[in-house]
Amino acid sequence: MPDHVNVFEVGPRDGLQNQKRLIPTEDKIKLVDMLSSCGFSHIETASFVSPKWVPQMADSAAVMAGISRKDGTAYTALTPNMRGYEAAIDANVDEVAIFASASEGFSQKNINCSIDESISRFTLILERAKFDKCNVRGYVSCVTHCPYDGPTDPDQVIRVALRLLEMGCYEISLGDTIGAATTETTHNLVSSILNYMPSSVLAGHFHDTNNNALENIGVCLEAGIRTFDSAVGGLGGCPYAEGAKGNVDTVSVVNMLHGMKYETGLNLESLRKASAFAQSLIEV
Ligand code: HMG
Ligand code: MG
Repeated sequence: MPDHVNVFEVGPRDGLQNQKRLIPTEDKIKLVDMLSSCGFSHIETASFVSPKWVPQMADSAAVMAGISRKDGTAYTALTPNMRGYEAAIDANVDEVAIFASASEGFSQKNINCSIDESISRFTLILERAKFDKCNVRGYVSCVTHCPYDGPTDPDQVIRVALRLLEMGCYEISLGDTIGAATTETTHNLVSSILNYMPSSVLAGHFHDTNNNALENIGVCLEAGIRTFDSAVGGLGGCPYAEGAKGNVDTVSVVNMLHGMKYETGLNLESLRKASAFAQSLIEV
């Protein structure tokens, strides 16, 4: 049996959230529907954050209502606070994600509170989600470098990741928010964090600012990590991390994995069509 790698598609959220042009809701729905035909187990479809902070995601409830769901695919959304969590549940998401930072500077700029304050907010979400039997994924941003605080010590990442796991997150996605990670810093982080948690609860989330994302995924694969986030068309960026470019491109990741004889369950031809459509949305 070939080794399976889970490619977690984040394009409709991370890929689109930073686009200047407000993309019509029907185009977002069409993109998610095209992605549904590719065979993903997870598609991060929406983000129930403040529309004042991220106007592009203001139509998240309408996107969730308009998509055609495919069995076997979980349609997920970001939730920064209880208000976002309740809106996500009302919109019938299958899973939510909370997002903390390993660095104080990015926590303040992105969600307007300290790391500890964010953990308190997320604790409330986790308690409700347990009651609702809703899976919660946890992001930790700026895992090797913060645009405000500089290099991140792996101990800072471990501290936040352990808290998210204790709270009940089923997986920790390690966010290289501005694509500054190198093979050295990725290796340093991953080898440290694996002393505290198994590779099965970790995912890699690499932005591709410096074209290092595929190599960083290679480092994670060697360490046993088998889940990677990517965005169709390589779209993306975070509005509160200037210079952050797109997520690593899904087609490139899948091509690399298939070349390495990993199995993904994804249909490359459908993916290429979705990729072309995603690109057309930002070229208008
Ligand atoms: P705040 O201004 O401190 O909080 O924002 P607030 O409670 O004063 O809310 C401000 C306004 O937003 C109020 O409206 C609230 O009602 C409203 P007003 O009273 O002024 O009319 N509001 C909401 N509206 C809708 N849904 C909500 C919600 N919450 C408040 N859930 C807050 C704090 C966390 C809300 C804000 O900072 C925020 O929304 N931040 C999100 C920023 C964001 O989405 N960043 C990008 C995603 S993270 C990322 O990309 C990294 C990742 O990819 C991993 C990686 O790459 O590392 C995940
Ligand atoms: Mg990201």
